[in-house]
Amino acid sequence: MADIILGIESSCDDTSAAVIRDGWLLSNVIASQDVHKAYGGVVPELASRAHELNIVPVVSEAVARAGIKTSDLTAIAFTRGPGLLGSLLVGTSFAKALGLALDIPIVMVNHLQGHLLADFIRVPGGEVREPEFPYLCLLVSGGNSQIVRVDSPLEYTILGQTIDDAVGEAFDKCSKMMGLGYPGGPVIDRLAAQGDPKRFKFAKPHIPGLDYSFSGVKTSLLYFVRDEIAKDPDFMEKNKEDICASFQKTLIDILMDKLVKAARQTGIRDITIGGGVSANSGLRQRILQEGEKRGWRTFLPEFKFTTDNAAMIAIAGYYHYLAGDRTPLDVAPVSRVSDF
Ligand code: KG4
Repeated sequence: MADIILGIESSCDDTSAAVIRDGWLLSNVIASQDVHKAYGGVVPELASRAHELNIVPVVSEAVARAGIKTSDLTAIAFTRGPGLLGSLLVGTSFAKALGLALDIPIVMVNHLQGHLLADFIRVPGGEVREPEFPYLCLLVSGGNSQIVRVDSPLEYTILGQTIDDAVGEAFDKCSKMMGLGYPGGPVIDRLAAQGDPKRFKFAKPHIPGLDYSFSGVKTSLLYFVRDEIAKDPDFMEKNKEDICASFQKTLIDILMDKLVKAARQTGIRDITIGGGVSANSGLRQRILQEGEKRGWRTFLPEFKFTTDNAAMIAIAGYYHYLAGDRTPLDVAPVSRVSDF
């Protein structure tokens, strides 16, 4: 009999539900929350309320699009954390209630593991191309910047991570600071495509090992913009494309330096990327270029699987389910990965 897994993701500001059958994606529905745009960042209380409104219609639509009935489900995978506690509570409580009602197991998933396994989401009619274990994943999002060695679907080791801000935070905070809007990543990405990446230089960190730091480059941009605007109030408007291109190049250089080092140290040549920032067109291009130069096999998941989505939670939950993992109904969500 087929294993049909419903995935539920509600860790931040996207409510998502997906259905997979034996590893093949049947549906993936995402409701994003526009309510946060006016505040220039995610407002946790508003996010939980929006999840409450969205969760029933999103799950119903995922089940309908998959062409199944809820009674066909084998198990429910849900994001337990890390993320915003109020947001996680909605998905976790919904998974528990539905699991209880249908008398099927629930399986908790670490959100980050979902990102690591995004390349294993098989789309009917699409190409099946998956990395071989062990592979390296550059996991870059609004909350994380990590290099992870993935040894099997359920075993992974963090080789390096940020000691301060995540790279997505650097994109978002700097965009806000320059008055370019939220979320900053896509805006900077778009403007950067029209600018000169070599025009301006920003400070790069000197952190030992494979760890990252993004707070210094953020401060470097802040002082640069402040000083230039003091000389010419229209400086931002006149130069925003070049500033974005140069700033984005600096962030990509920082990410790639350590990724290249990790690949050299481990001898691993299968490289994947995950997390919201992996949608960045400059980063994607650089990974492909470096890959070609260094003989890597590179794997870039489709855009819709790079940002928060339930398909990745469903596939990670599927592997947990196959391994016999079942989660008790008294499970509580966790905001930090260290509490997992
Ligand atoms: O993984 P994700 O959807 O959510 C969490 O971090 O929970 O990542 C969101 C982050 C934001 O910081 C956003 O600015 C960034 O991903 N992002 C991008 C791009 N699209 C989204 N950053 C750079 N370039 C993009 N095209």
